[in-house]
Amino acid sequence: MSTDKTTLLELREFCVSYGEVEAVHRVQLTVREGEIVTVIGPNGAGKTTLLSAAMGLLPSRGELLLDGERIARPSVEKMVAHGVALVPEKRELFGEMSVGDNLLLGGFSRWRRGQRDQKARMQEVFELFPRLHERRAQMAGTLSGGERQMLAIGRALMARPRLLMLDEPSLGLAPLIVREVLRIVASLRELGVSVLLVEQNARAALQVADRAYVLEMGAVALTGEARELLNDRRIIDTYLGLGTKKAA
Ligand SMILES: Nc1ncnc2c1ncn2[C@@H]1O[C@H](COP(=O)(O)OP(=O)(O)O)[C@@H](O)[C@H]1O
Ligand SMILES: [Mg+2]
Repeated sequence: MSTDKTTLLELREFCVSYGEVEAVHRVQLTVREGEIVTVIGPNGAGKTTLLSAAMGLLPSRGELLLDGERIARPSVEKMVAHGVALVPEKRELFGEMSVGDNLLLGGFSRWRRGQRDQKARMQEVFELFPRLHERRAQMAGTLSGGERQMLAIGRALMARPRLLMLDEPSLGLAPLIVREVLRIVASLRELGVSVLLVEQNARAALQVADRAYVLEMGAVALTGEARELLNDRRIIDTYLGLGTKKAA
């Protein structure tokens, strides 16, 4: 596993513990520029823990590298400064604020750095999510689940990340909306945004990703091209529910 120029994020022997209990165990993972990488696995596998620690929200052991450079003690500030953004499992929108104001807040750290391109960024987000444009004056708290997810992603994009990390964007959404949201996630590649997508919905995730890691009990059980994993017997039987259902 060599680190070439195009490797954006790399985790080496990455471990995360809650007290005595290790929830993420020696994970090796890379995201290259322009890639959509997914981490799939059952509930409790450690997906949220992995993503939170990779964003610097939880302490970790092992190594985290960005652009081949080791980040000592990853913190949210360092990750943001390197162009990483996270859309957490709880979307953390401001329900009493309009869609437009929620988006503007997502661009605040850029604004503070003197980069006054929020209008153009917002235009980009509206092109990706025309529904947000229609609802730009509506209170975020009154949006549907799918629209809320779009707003959470749009808000993260306002910071112009190079790597967008998404924690279960399909959670609680109807299948058609899941497809719509993930189709837009896949299109981020054209905007030069790489994606690390954590999903319990293995089928939806494997359909949009380039590569995948299967996380089981905190460790990588399997990794490969997403297309190949979609046809892997072990994945089909365990995660895709295509196995022959025996009549009870
Ligand atoms: N704050 C916490 N304190 C202690 N244990 C936790 C905490 N959060 C998660 N865990 C445990 O870590 C494991 C992984 O959880 P999580 O990362 O949320 O999994 P996933 O996102 O894949 O469902 C689970 O066994 C869970 O109970
Ligand atoms: Mg989770």
